[in-house]
Order: sequence, then structure tokens, then C-alpha cells
Amino acid sequence: MQQTTSAATELLDKMALYAKMVDEALNEEMQKYLGSDFYEPLIYALEGGKRIRPIILLLSNKAAGGCEADALKEAVAVELLHTESIIHDDIIDDETIRRGKPVFYVAYGFNTSLLTADFVFGIILSIVSRSKKNVAEDLASAALQMCEGEIMEMKVEADNSEVPLDKYLLIVRKKTASLFEAAAKIGAKLASADEKVIEALARYGLNIGIAYQIQDDILDWNNGSKIARRVTVKGGDVKKMLAEIASRYAKEAKMNLQDLPDCEAKQILYDIAEFAVNRLS
Ligand code: IPE
Ligand code: MG
Repeated sequence: MQQTTSAATELLDKMALYAKMVDEALNEEMQKYLGSDFYEPLIYALEGGKRIRPIILLLSNKAAGGCEADALKEAVAVELLHTESIIHDDIIDDETIRRGKPVFYVAYGFNTSLLTADFVFGIILSIVSRSKKNVAEDLASAALQMCEGEIMEMKVEADNSEVPLDKYLLIVRKKTASLFEAAAKIGAKLASADEKVIEALARYGLNIGIAYQIQDDILDWNNGSKIARRVTVKGGDVKKMLAEIASRYAKEAKMNLQDLPDCEAKQILYDIAEFAVNRLS
């Protein structure tokens, strides 16, 4: 999935350890719904993701001096918010394949898609009600922005005109980066970090989220976001310009980490910022 440099392999191995923790916590949460009609569709919806958002939450928590065991259920909530958003997004985008298998609505139909995404919101509320910190405000802010970003994108897609760069970046920020921001911020909050640390990590999340989505659009150039290709540039190559912009946001994300004490988690966050723009899938 990535250039096979040893540094990249090392990073992916480290991320896999956190992904495993996330998956265990996800499974534990899902066991509460074992008897439900939603159980099997939920497992299908959750399979195969990279878990990048909850991984960032756990690393942010650790980098801010926390202990990841205290942040696991909130990491699950963040992955669930991503999950319900892609169930809907794949319908909006007419996607057929995700993570190498049929998208949720192709496998289960539209009505089950609507209901499962609602059910997932219920699970998120349940987790939030058990959290020791006010993470509800951060998840709510992300959920609202993600919807706003999606509807803005829908409107822009509907008219076939050029897309100003700032409009494209606003959509990216809302539909994708808002959840990365919430993830990093929640991680820091759960570590009871100082306000300055929480803000720095929130900004890291926002910046890496923007870089990540731009890279996603670049990777999916012919098939994905129709709006990225319509971004206006004066006499240049749009794709190249967007790659440069993604690199700038990734660099900014790394700068946001500079005042944190050095530790392994900080280093991994730093490396993830590079990975966000260098990844090949
Ligand atoms: C894909 O997200 C959709 C975006 C908002 C860019 P991911 O790249 O995190 O997808 P999965 O969860 O790993 O499949
Ligand atoms: Mg979309």
C-alpha cells in the first residue's frame, strides 16, 4: 500500500499495533449489539478500514501524556462517525467498491443503509454518554461540518463550472478534516492536557486531515472527487498544484507538534503527516 522503504514499513508496522487496539475495542463495543439485526451489517461496514482517525486519537492522547486505555471507546466513536459517513457518501458518489468489496448499499440496500447509519449514531451517543470528558461537543462539531461539507460538494458537483481553490479547500476542511481535528483534540482532552496542547493537537488534526483528503483526491483522480479536477488554476497543472498544497498542509501539521515533549507517539504522528501525502492508497 505504500512505497516499500524501510521507514514506511516501520511506520505501517507501528500503526498496525494501534489499529489492532482499535479493532479490539471496536469488537468489544459491537458485542453489545450481538443480538441485533444490525450486528452483521455493522461488522461488514467496519471491515477493512485503515483506522487512521482512531489511531491519530490514540497517538494524540499518548503524545499529550495520556494512557491509551482511557481513550479507546472515544477512538471507537470516531471510527464509527467515519463509518456512518462513508455508508452515506458511497450512495451520494455512486461508488460500487470500497476496501476491495461491494460498498454497503450495494450489499444491503438503501433502506438498511439509512437505518444502519442512524443506528451507528445511536452507538456514538451511547459512547459519548459514558465518556469522562466532554467529547460530545467535538464529535457534534465534526458531524455537523461533515454534513455541511458533503452538501456543499453536492451543490458544486451539480453545476459544471470551475471551482475556486478556496471553495475546494473549505469543502475538504469540512467534510474530512473536521473529523481528524476532532480525533486529535479528543485524544488530547482525554489526557487532561493543557489548553495549549489541546489546541496544537487539534490544529495538527485539521492540517493533516486537509492534506489527507487532497492526497485522496489525487490518488483517485480519474474516478473520485469530480470537484478536485475542476479547481481553477492560472496556467498550471491542477494536480501538481494540489500535491504542493497537500505537502504544505502536511508540513504545517508537523510544525503543530513542535512544542510537545519528544516521545514515540509524537514521532509517529510526525511520520503519519508524511505518510498522508506520500501514501499510494
Ligand atoms: C476515505 O477515508 C474517505 C475520506 C474521507 C478520504 P479513509 O482513507 O480513511 O478510508 P478507510 O476507512 O481506510 O477505508
Ligand atoms: Mg464524496
